[in-house]
Amino acid sequence: MKLAVVGGGSTYTPELIDGFARLRDTLPISELVLVDPAADRLELVGGLARRIFAKQGHPGTITTTSDLDAGVADADAVLLQLRVGGQAARQQDETWPLECGCVGQETTGAGGLAKALRTVPVVLDIAERVRRTNPNAWIIDFTNPVGIVTRALLQAGHKAVGLCNVAIGFQRKFAAQLDVAPSDVFLNHVGLNHLTWELGARLGGPEGEDVLPKLLAEHGDAISDDLHLPRSVVDRLGVVPSYYLRYFYAHDEVVRELATKPSRAAEVAEMERQLLKMYGDPALDEKPELLAKRGGAFYSEAAVDLASSLLGAGGSPYQVVNTYNNGTLPFLPDDAVIEVQATVDGNGATPLAVPKLDPLYSGLIGHVTAYEDLALEAALRGGRDRVFKALLAHPLVGQYALADDLTDRLIAHNQEHLAWA
Ligand code: G6P
Ligand code: MN
Repeated sequence: MKLAVVGGGSTYTPELIDGFARLRDTLPISELVLVDPAADRLELVGGLARRIFAKQGHPGTITTTSDLDAGVADADAVLLQLRVGGQAARQQDETWPLECGCVGQETTGAGGLAKALRTVPVVLDIAERVRRTNPNAWIIDFTNPVGIVTRALLQAGHKAVGLCNVAIGFQRKFAAQLDVAPSDVFLNHVGLNHLTWELGARLGGPEGEDVLPKLLAEHGDAISDDLHLPRSVVDRLGVVPSYYLRYFYAHDEVVRELATKPSRAAEVAEMERQLLKMYGDPALDEKPELLAKRGGAFYSEAAVDLASSLLGAGGSPYQVVNTYNNGTLPFLPDDAVIEVQATVDGNGATPLAVPKLDPLYSGLIGHVTAYEDLALEAALRGGRDRVFKALLAHPLVGQYALADDLTDRLIAHNQEHLAWA
């Protein structure tokens, strides 16, 4: 089995390699290609990747290349984990919205729109080249904003599934709190990428007992502390929102907080400097502790599971993925991309049925879906008016003067990435 990782020079890659090595029975990789335009990073990351495989006795080969077409040729699956513009562009996304009193975040709000506009054309170009050399390959998209990017891929007819680690993170956390194996926890995970709620946590599978009320009763403080939300809010919801919901439920508080500290992009850039230095040490042959400070925990396990099921090698019976709605949430268009539990096999992902949602969730999901629809239009067709409309539709923006101001800043800060600007 051959896998290609586009954005393979990412400092995240050792997390992925560690998962591939540990879980090689689930996903028997014979050849792994790391593809990245940054040759210097590739060399550092590729070197460590090979040492991790060697230490763990993985028989697969790891090669690196900056030639996308050569790298993805014959791959059975292609993982996308690239970041257009790097941390420097992220730094912008996290900064200029704050000047307008809006959250500065890489996937939520105006910053997320900027990221979508930069990313969608690049990802579509890559996917097109994958399809040309290898029409049967599956594309697994971890590139943010995952919901919008996955929708772009699916609309263009690609064999794609979107992936995020939020659900697997909750699964692992709840399993530890319940003192059971992660595979024994089935989450009723519903929403859009980075806009999800755990409505239940069932033991053993979709029909199992819902132990979320018990979890909230016994571990409510720890759960709400992690989310930086008051326990009383989580208790009143009776469900567990993802930490991205804080940007909605505590928007103004977050804006005030962000104004007083360095951006996450700056923190990550500093970590990346340290990580790359470590990766260059020939004695290092495992993923360093520092990597745990990044947000991508368990990404590799989710990716192994998903690739394994798509390529017919096994994988968990139910996985949380991003795919077409197709009637699962009846208040959304069929071609909206949602993030829910699904069964996955060689034909792709099929969402499990979801019980009727409380308007507290369906309202926001519907609103953000409309924004994502307009955001994709803007990313595909460009133009100031389309950017403005996407922002006007966003629940965190909504007013024309603010949308105009954000539109101008977005365009000014992303000139070099927007062909039409
Ligand atoms: C989580 C999200 C990812 C995001 C990451 C950011 O893993 O699910 O979509 O890319 O956090 O982590 P970072 O360490 O870059 O802030
Ligand atoms: Mn994510």
